[in-house]
Amino acid sequence: MSKSIAKTPEEIKEMRTACRLAAEVLDYIAPFVQPGTTTLELDRLCREYMEKVQRTTSATLNYAPPGYTPYPASICTSLNHQVCHGIPGNKPLKKGDILNIDVTVITQAGFYGDTSRMFIIGEASILAKRLCQVAYECMWLGIAAVRPGARLGDIGHAIQRHAEGNGFSVVREFCGHGIGRNFHEAPQVLHYGKPGSGEKLESGVIFTIEPMINAGKAGISELPDGWTIITRDRSLSAQWEHTVLVTDSGVEVLTLSADCPPPPKLIAGSLAALAPAPMS
Ligand code: MF3
Ligand code: CO
Ligand code: CO
Repeated sequence: MSKSIAKTPEEIKEMRTACRLAAEVLDYIAPFVQPGTTTLELDRLCREYMEKVQRTTSATLNYAPPGYTPYPASICTSLNHQVCHGIPGNKPLKKGDILNIDVTVITQAGFYGDTSRMFIIGEASILAKRLCQVAYECMWLGIAAVRPGARLGDIGHAIQRHAEGNGFSVVREFCGHGIGRNFHEAPQVLHYGKPGSGEKLESGVIFTIEPMINAGKAGISELPDGWTIITRDRSLSAQWEHTVLVTDSGVEVLTLSADCPPPPKLIAGSLAALAPAPMS
């Protein structure tokens, strides 16, 4: 894959807007994620909010990369053992479920913002809660590794080390990605790797960090719908996603919003040194 290209100050400004809007869709939908509702209903609500309130459009609706049928929904909803790209459906959510909602908006200026969060429906099992927490820490450890001069492998390594250190595994087939006027661009941000390896990060580059962490083995399979990815061993899977900018001094998380969860305690020290802007 080709090398990443730093954004101009104007593009960065537009990306701040796109990314905040994506995060605000998650803020909006959070109170509706309750037992008894369906992911189709959540999809409908998000679509209305994007189109009518934000005047954004969903990047996923009818998204059709080569070899895929058009994606049929405005958000991805990946439930329990679903890893990513889950298609919203009419099965009611129940207590104990864990759900990833992944939102990508396109602004009228043509810029993409991409973010996802886990939601715990009612009270989940100790394992499910720990998986969601460790996946969250993995994403933030990846973010804390971002600064000019660091390498992509530093991000992957930080994530892999924490996931595997907790007895979980990292999905290999999907990765973070550059983003801007396109949904997916260079670089590919693997969620595993070796420190000091891979492309050197430069100020102005924007990409996502979106580790998919499985409670069991890392293997996946695809459902016959042509989109939904599940764990091969049917173990639970969790994912969080932020879009980040490499700054002169460290990292700026672009997909922050009023209600997004704060960084975990685990990375408090490292982020303070790295982040120029307040984190919330
Ligand atoms: N938002 C996903 C990502 O983080 C991509 C979803 S593509 C879809 O890259 F078609 F499944 F919606
Ligand atoms: Co993404
Ligand atoms: Co996404």
